[in-house]
Amino acid sequence: MAAVARAHPNIALVKYWGKADDELIIPAAGSMSMTLDKFATTTSVALTSGSDTFELNGTTADAKATARTTAFLDLVRDLAAQAGLDTAQAGAQVVSSNEGPTAAGMASSASGFAALATAAATAFGVELSSRQLSRLARRGSGSASRSLIDRFAVWHAGTSDATSYAEPISAPDMAMVSVTVNATAKKVSSRDGMTATRDTSPYYQAWIDTTVTTLNEMLAACAAEDFTRIGQLTETHAHRMHAVINASHPPIRYLAPESWQIFEEVTAMRQMGLEAYATADAGPNVVIICRPDDAAAVAARVGAYGQINTFSPGPGAHLVDVA
Ligand code: PMV
Repeated sequence: MAAVARAHPNIALVKYWGKADDELIIPAAGSMSMTLDKFATTTSVALTSGSDTFELNGTTADAKATARTTAFLDLVRDLAAQAGLDTAQAGAQVVSSNEGPTAAGMASSASGFAALATAAATAFGVELSSRQLSRLARRGSGSASRSLIDRFAVWHAGTSDATSYAEPISAPDMAMVSVTVNATAKKVSSRDGMTATRDTSPYYQAWIDTTVTTLNEMLAACAAEDFTRIGQLTETHAHRMHAVINASHPPIRYLAPESWQIFEEVTAMRQMGLEAYATADAGPNVVIICRPDDAAAVAARVGAYGQINTFSPGPGAHLVDVA
């Protein structure tokens, strides 16, 4: 049995940064994101009688990435065993390719585990609802739970495996303009950075408390289709995340001087009436949100800082082939 799935990255407007349960990947607070329409990951999973293999972007993946893939496939084998399927004993040949940059703050782990969850569940013959697929993807990389969802997603933090999943929400149409100032892999992974922040940053509890409040405000702003409020909440929240991260010991810095220059440029855009707001994940690249009609003007203003990509809301993870 074999299946191929495709998934897109997502960029959070309300960020996930901190776990309540490291093994189950239950976050300490909920989050909210837009799924992108570019930079897809396409992953095929074919069952074999041997051990698991993992090829990423045309080459055999390193031992760490392969071990993480096998650990994830073990979860799928557990589900197959619970369903009484003999695929529970099978190995898998996983072949994955990213259309966007890998591990540089453009959420390749989100699209990667969303595509892997979708393809693997089908290849192993495990039937899962979209909520169950979101929960499964979460175990690979927390933010992957949101890449199952079309357009805009809220990930409910929950307090257990069963209650921590993403689902769709409606939000006004918007564009994202990403500025890739550095496409090489980041020095501190999200996983390590989150643990260090929780264990050493004195502002961690305040960050979690404010994220809970911001998510509620964001959901209200989305329901009211209030783009200005969504933008303001997004930008303030991103700065708070980088502040709590910066306060770790030893300090962690994901933003680069160019990132700060882009934040300045976005402030200047607003002062001249171009309504744009900026955010950044665990890396130096900046993502600017704006109304769809303003995307070309925003892109023109920041083109000098790096590679520009413009995104619309995109589709959740889906199967593209089953054999
Ligand atoms: O899912 P992870 O472990 O790659 O963490 C994602 C962390 C951020 O991208 C910084 C925030 C988010 O909510 O996507």
